[in-house]
Amino acid sequence: MKTRITELFGIEHPIIQGGMHYVGFAEMAAAVSNAGGLGLITGLTQGTPENLTKEIARCREMTDKPFGVNLTFLPSVNPPDYPGFMDAIIKGGIKIVETAGNNPQKYMPALKAAGIKVIHKCTSVRHSLKAETVGVDAVSVDGFECGGHPGEDDVPNFILLPRAGEELTIPFVASGGMADGRSLVAALAMGAEGMNMGTRFIATQDAPVHQHVKDALVAASELDTRLIMRPLRNTERVLTNAGVERLLEKERTLGAAITFADIAPEVAGVYPLIFRDGQMDAGGWSCGMVAGLIHDIPTVKDLIDRIMAEAESLIAERLAGFLGQRAGARLETA
Ligand SMILES: Cc1cc2nc3c(=O)[nH]c(=O)nc-3n(C[C@H](O)[C@H](O)[C@H](O)COP(=O)(O)O)c2cc1C
Repeated sequence: MKTRITELFGIEHPIIQGGMHYVGFAEMAAAVSNAGGLGLITGLTQGTPENLTKEIARCREMTDKPFGVNLTFLPSVNPPDYPGFMDAIIKGGIKIVETAGNNPQKYMPALKAAGIKVIHKCTSVRHSLKAETVGVDAVSVDGFECGGHPGEDDVPNFILLPRAGEELTIPFVASGGMADGRSLVAALAMGAEGMNMGTRFIATQDAPVHQHVKDALVAASELDTRLIMRPLRNTERVLTNAGVERLLEKERTLGAAITFADIAPEVAGVYPLIFRDGQMDAGGWSCGMVAGLIHDIPTVKDLIDRIMAEAESLIAERLAGFLGQRAGARLETA
């Protein structure tokens, strides 16, 4: 399949693996890139620019296909060493960067000077337009269904994607709720030129995370995610568990007076406990409503091959078939 996204990034299939904290290691990114998609190492997960340099080198040993790095700009009292991470990306020869969390304007001159293609992830049409203005090459449009931070507008992809299509000139991918060939075809129909998946890629044999996490995704339904940190205007969609329900109870009791310190036990330092140690009640970890569409744990290659085969058959047979029937019906009534 050829779209502006496959052309832009030099990939075979228009499928991107979004940056994921504690999941986006070299194993994950390389598996996606080797299967013809675009894999991304999660920059901040590596902890330091030096470790990111090593992770990029490790990934390069696992694949000769294009892969990129996600750099998430977090609201933070003590910000990570962003100039250092940027340096590691540029010196590591990375040619694709996914930015997220905040407008990447400040870093665009350095990224462009290094010949890096930038895809910015955002949750609204106005942020997408702003990203286009500052010179990003593509955007990843993240609907309300998404795992992670859906923003505060709560617009689901059935509205957000066509709205993005109405306004944007640069290509965009659909993100949030994407799982299979049906998702890809629907995304293409709504104006996107590919799709970005997070949660679905965690339930694969290649994802370097604890088996309990993968099993939890297969067991979960579309009703099992919760929105946390809404009162702090830092909303995150997570999979429910005992820690998450405890946090929500605090949000209900403390109301508008709640501070980050009140919920720190359920959100700070939780990712290694979940993804490395499999402690599934530790607290909030990002997970999309798409969990309801996850029924197995294939290899990344099998997943991507299946998605592409399903998408092609949907377009060539199911959708084309509807046109054939209509054409046939018109002939009969003529
Ligand atoms: C466990 C997990 C961790 C994530 N961490 C990040 C992150 O560090 N930076 C980021 O930009 N997006 C992050 N995301 C969001 C994904 O890149 C992607 O946009 C999102 O998962 C898409 O929605 P989906 O889960 O419905 O596919 C994370 C998502 C998950 C599920």
